[in-house]
Amino acid sequence: MKVGIIGSGGREHALCYAIKKSKKVKKIYCFPGNAGTDKIAENINLDVSNFDLLKDFINKNQIDIIIVGPEKPLVEGIVDFLEKNKIKVFGPNKFSSKLEGSKIFTKNLCKKYNIPTAKYGIFKNKKNAQKFLNNCNLPIVIKADGLAAGKGVYICETKKQGINAVHEIFNGKFGKTYEILIEEFLVGEEMSFFIISDGITFKKFGTAQDHKRVGEGDLGPNTGGMGAYSPSRLENEILNQKILKKIIKPTLKALKDLNTNYKGFLYAGLIINNNEPYLIEYNVRMGDPECQTILPRLKTDFFKIVESTINQNLDQLNIEWFSDKCLSIVQCSIGYPSTYKNNKEIRKLNNIILKNDEFIFHAGTKIEKNKIFSNGGRVLNFVAKSNSFKNSRKMAIDLIKKVNWKDGFYRKDIGYKVINK
Ligand code: AMP
Ligand code: GLY
Repeated sequence: MKVGIIGSGGREHALCYAIKKSKKVKKIYCFPGNAGTDKIAENINLDVSNFDLLKDFINKNQIDIIIVGPEKPLVEGIVDFLEKNKIKVFGPNKFSSKLEGSKIFTKNLCKKYNIPTAKYGIFKNKKNAQKFLNNCNLPIVIKADGLAAGKGVYICETKKQGINAVHEIFNGKFGKTYEILIEEFLVGEEMSFFIISDGITFKKFGTAQDHKRVGEGDLGPNTGGMGAYSPSRLENEILNQKILKKIIKPTLKALKDLNTNYKGFLYAGLIINNNEPYLIEYNVRMGDPECQTILPRLKTDFFKIVESTINQNLDQLNIEWFSDKCLSIVQCSIGYPSTYKNNKEIRKLNNIILKNDEFIFHAGTKIEKNKIFSNGGRVLNFVAKSNSFKNSRKMAIDLIKKVNWKDGFYRKDIGYKVINK
């Protein structure tokens, strides 16, 4: 089989690694991939937002299955387009992708189906939003409706910050805006909860916890994710059942009632308070860096899981996991998440020999004449699994030290809540 993977991050390198392990897979293409996927797949530099161009390449090269990593092409309808052209594809359709593409769509769905989430209001202009901010409790959360690459959420501690957020969003910081969401600040601990669905049945696909803030102790500005560990320390069977019953099942039912179904990964971003789950947001894909900690724990052939999802017979497959504790540390370009420089060579990467339970998943890297250069804010994911998070973190840090890249930085405290000092 030939498989195509869309995306260029650490998540996609991990997807590529998991697919590569299958005996059924003969060749992988990555659109566009990075210096890591270059080693196990053929990177294709093609504008994936040009669906026709992509379709022509897929047909010409007889690619059997396409896996979509990031949200943007999903929200833009890549699945509908490829399916219409008789190409097998893993991921949700355009309508279902509104779960991530429109926060207001999801909030309204939560309200209708009684899904626990933060109380909220939708505001159509600055004046009404500001009026509300005059009397609300603080902190308060203000969100742009559409995709904003993780940046459209403001946690406001003061009224002034709230007013500034309303201004920025309505002034078009995240594109033309007609409505914004203001919601209650939820207290608790975050958890990323994943399922995989074939449109008929679904299965749990692990839990993880990511660290979004740039600084140690979870301080400083938000990032795409500085590291993660799986499974989440909060996971327990009672909580799992609550999440499925109160959040996942009503959501899938809601989509059915809207005459569609959900295929692919669904990622529920949750806040857990007193073992009660509240939905913060949905993502219609795997998490990054969560994916890099979940796939190494998977025992079952990932390609078979993808095939069963596309063929809608997931119910016949038993998904098995290793009990290891997996942890990922992201090394970023100095300056990230604000300005940083690209094209910094990472010299020692090619000489590293990885043990069985160690992984380096590339994110913002590129390869030129056999040399590897940085090419983004989040550059490398150092991942290890073992029988304890403490040991896995030590293994990941030892790898970082071996690579010894001077233009990058990382958090040494990933997983601190689950690792006894
Ligand atoms: P999102 O892009 O919706 O995941 O939001 C980014 C981050 O903001 C989340 O991971 C949470 O840390 C935080 N967040 C979003 N909504 C809320 C909320 N209602 N209460 C508390 N924290 C929130
Ligand atoms: N880890 C956060 C995300 O993938 O959106």
